[in-house]
Amino acid sequence: MAKPILITGASSGIGYELAKVCAAHRHDLVLVARREERLLELKAELQQAHGVQVLTYRGDLTDADTRQQFYDWTQFKGITPYALVNNAGFGALAPFAEADWDNQNAMLQLNIVALTHLTRLYLPAMIAQGQGRILNVASTAAFLPGPYMAVYYASKAFVLSFTEAIATELEGSGVTATTLCPGPTQSEFQARAEIKNVKLFEGKSVPTSAVVAAYGYEAMEKGQRIAVHGAVNKLLSFSTRLLPRKNLAEVTKGLQKPA
Ligand SMILES: NC(=O)c1ccc[n+]([C@@H]2O[C@H](COP(=O)([O-])OP(=O)(O)OC[C@H]3O[C@@H](n4cnc5c(N)ncnc54)[C@H](OP(=O)(O)O)[C@@H]3O)[C@@H](O)[C@H]2O)c1
Repeated sequence: MAKPILITGASSGIGYELAKVCAAHRHDLVLVARREERLLELKAELQQAHGVQVLTYRGDLTDADTRQQFYDWTQFKGITPYALVNNAGFGALAPFAEADWDNQNAMLQLNIVALTHLTRLYLPAMIAQGQGRILNVASTAAFLPGPYMAVYYASKAFVLSFTEAIATELEGSGVTATTLCPGPTQSEFQARAEIKNVKLFEGKSVPTSAVVAAYGYEAMEKGQRIAVHGAVNKLLSFSTRLLPRKNLAEVTKGLQKPA
């Protein structure tokens, strides 16, 4: 495969659009998600449009055995990724004391453990080949506490901290690690998180996943450490350094209080 890029969560939203951007830049692809029929449709489209090779893998990445099997499968096929894009993730809107535990646990497994596990599996070979890119999708949620989406916000804070730390470890190796921090973005995320009638999304012009994906790809290629999408999101992320944490939590609470 030519400079293959592995993308998790490529069946919709930002991951789906990242696959399109990477294919347009002539990368072969390995796409992972649970809805394989969508991956197969995307594969046919990208092969026809760009002549790239695309492999798909159906798997639930919350499961450790599935992640290991996926890795073993790529090893068997002799694939050393040029880039690993840990994009799969989800959120859920609910007061923590009432939140469904199985769903919260799955969120921790996907947003944190799968991202960390896949990075650990693929990184040694990327370092050995002296070039590579890690793109971990966090969120502007990484910068502040998030009442009513407490675990989601905390999971994205982990992604930011973890990715910044390994970016520093990787200096001089030829491999870079980038944290992409989108703000609210058009995708299936809101429906899955059951986010309805909250101020965070009211009356805002929300960018498409395609716009965010193009931005993320450029940041990854430049080896940028943190890529916050959009001028307003950049300003808001910066301003979180200036306000007391309690006040930040109050602001988020106001924006996300379930109707
Ligand atoms: N949209 C936003 O407002 C927003 C803002 C900031 C950050 N983000 C982050 O952006 C990333 C992409 O989300 P999105 O907005 O594009 O949402 P999305 O449209 O819901 O896409 C999520 C992707 O993750 C995959 N996925 C979910 N659970 C999975 C599992 N157990 N195993 C494997 N794949 C799984 C889904 O595929 P299957 O269902 O087919 O498995 C889908 O391809 C997430 O990390 C999210 O936290 C989104």
